[in-house]
Amino acid sequence: MKRIFPASRLALLPTLLAVGCLSGAGALSAATTNYLADLDISQVSQGWGEPHANLSVDGHPLSIGGQKFAKGLGTHAVSEFILDLGGHADSFSAQVGVDDEVGQGRGAAIFKVLGDNGQILWQSKELHSGDAPVPVNLPLTDVKRLILAVEVPEAIDFAHADWADAYVVYGKKGRPKAISSIHEEAVILTPKSAPTPRINSTSVVGERPGHELLYTIAATGDRPMTFAADNLPAGLLLDPQTGRITGTLSDKGEYAVTLHAKNALGEAVRPLKIVVGSQIGLTPALGWNSWNCFASAVTAEKVKAAADAMVSSGLINHGWTYINIDDFWEVHHDSKDPTLQGPQRDASGHIIPNPRFPDMKGLADYVHAKGLRIGLYSSPGPWTCGGCVASWQHEEQDAQSYAQWGFDYLKYDWCSYGGIDKGDTLAGLQKPYQVMRAALDKVNRDILFSFCQYGMGNVWEWGAAVGGNSWRTTGDINDSWGSMAGIGFRQNGHEKYAGPGHFNDPDMLVVGKVGWGPSLHPTHLTPNEQYTHISLWCLLASPLLIGCDMTQLDPFTFSLLSNDEVLEVNQDPLGHQAARIAVKGSLEVWAKDMQDGSKAVGLFNRGYGSATVTANWADLGLTGKQKVRDLWRQQDLGEFGDSYSAEVPRHGVVLIRVWPAK
Ligand code: GLA
Repeated sequence: MKRIFPASRLALLPTLLAVGCLSGAGALSAATTNYLADLDISQVSQGWGEPHANLSVDGHPLSIGGQKFAKGLGTHAVSEFILDLGGHADSFSAQVGVDDEVGQGRGAAIFKVLGDNGQILWQSKELHSGDAPVPVNLPLTDVKRLILAVEVPEAIDFAHADWADAYVVYGKKGRPKAISSIHEEAVILTPKSAPTPRINSTSVVGERPGHELLYTIAATGDRPMTFAADNLPAGLLLDPQTGRITGTLSDKGEYAVTLHAKNALGEAVRPLKIVVGSQIGLTPALGWNSWNCFASAVTAEKVKAAADAMVSSGLINHGWTYINIDDFWEVHHDSKDPTLQGPQRDASGHIIPNPRFPDMKGLADYVHAKGLRIGLYSSPGPWTCGGCVASWQHEEQDAQSYAQWGFDYLKYDWCSYGGIDKGDTLAGLQKPYQVMRAALDKVNRDILFSFCQYGMGNVWEWGAAVGGNSWRTTGDINDSWGSMAGIGFRQNGHEKYAGPGHFNDPDMLVVGKVGWGPSLHPTHLTPNEQYTHISLWCLLASPLLIGCDMTQLDPFTFSLLSNDEVLEVNQDPLGHQAARIAVKGSLEVWAKDMQDGSKAVGLFNRGYGSATVTANWADLGLTGKQKVRDLWRQQDLGEFGDSYSAEVPRHGVVLIRVWPAK
């Protein structure tokens, strides 16, 4: 139903005349109609899938409330399309709604049109699939930057959002320019580490009796540095040069150790509690995973390079520990790529890695020799998500192989298990994780167990009972604001299921150079969005798995990953996850308890322009004066009577820690 002169534009004529844009038929003929679908829609940031010109996000003809549209933009909330108008556009028109493809009544979306500094020019009510298209007709006098946003009241599921028949009219010459995000300076807030020693590794570590421990005392400060430990139980040894504690403890119990790191300028002292029992992973895992950068292009060389860079960049000194191989270390079921071909299992059924990983034990030894731990990936189905060999009916053998090779972490991804069990019962969802749990319990090695099944069956409610050290609560993240914020801010309510040894996992980090394949790009998140990402994931006590190419760490990305006061929020031994304690429109305050009685508090601005966000002590359950410290800047801000307010940039955060004032 292509219209040369859209009806909605006719409806706009009086407005255009009133704002002096058109002075008669002559002016009208000079006007240009710029359809959104004809602009560079690759700049759309959205929470799921790809934007489509003239089709829905799923690739069907645009359809809202039974009405079909030939032109328009099909997107998925949470989404943003930013247009640089240069201040010369006259008007914007569209018919908006949730696409019929998701089924009557499903999906919920709120459409917003915003002007300069995030000023809301128009907003729809909450719309669902089946609702009639809602017309938007707006004059745009002097608007320089237009943001077409779609938000969701709750979950982003099925929020297939259409900007049908959408166009910007220019009275004179001009054309909107789509931009990927509003340009922001990448300001480094993290101060440089002091030359004096500071111990940053986790202050509590869990180990099973008789299983090998590798704990590296992570410390910043000038080298040379020597390490010592008081009260180290017999069975463990510390290398004073590398700071690595290795060995095994056969008796259950808690061991209180005091760690020392010393250089020419001074000495740092810090307690470490070693808990020998049934629990490992007492604080969220800190590490790297190959998926968000290399995906199917991962190789053993790339994994080694990541381990090398973890050390040479200095991130190891901030407590980063795991180097995890995701999918594609196994043989592929039908790839034409010879490096993914080969025998899948030996005669007795043991898995054989693909030719890119000729020596898994050698690789694990290489990573361990650097003081780091190593992880890998499989699926309970016959194939992984990428179509490689997985563990179905070989669970015990695979667990044995992982242990023999010396692996410390397993991500176990549902995927093709969907062909074995539809996943429509709780028992069915739990079974494959119980089977692998039992297999891991039989091996003589501590292997952290990370469930990946995207949150099915409210996995947070039973993940710990089934023996998961963490469980993904969502589908896959990407490096857009819509995806990251859509996932991160939806974690509220899960906090009651997190604790030492078992954490919610809202997926891996998307800062630095990412790309999911051979070609990489700098994250599409703005600097403020990256501060929000790291702050929120730390508050959520989420596993932090760096998803970028470690060999291409730029100073800004390094600064995001090396702020010890921020990482301390993530690694706090209480293992609490933050909850949302206040919301006012797009301004949110999240807080978590820290072991020392303080609170870590994030003041977030999900809106489109800078705004003042206030954390009220009453909302935090606090009374009286509180001492406030800015964690990114590592600066005391003073004492505050009953609240703390800060100006927070668009999509940004101020992360503070609050102690009762003396
Ligand atoms: C799924 C997971 C991702 C990644 C890929 C690998 O999509 O959610 O994190 O592991 O599989 O194929």
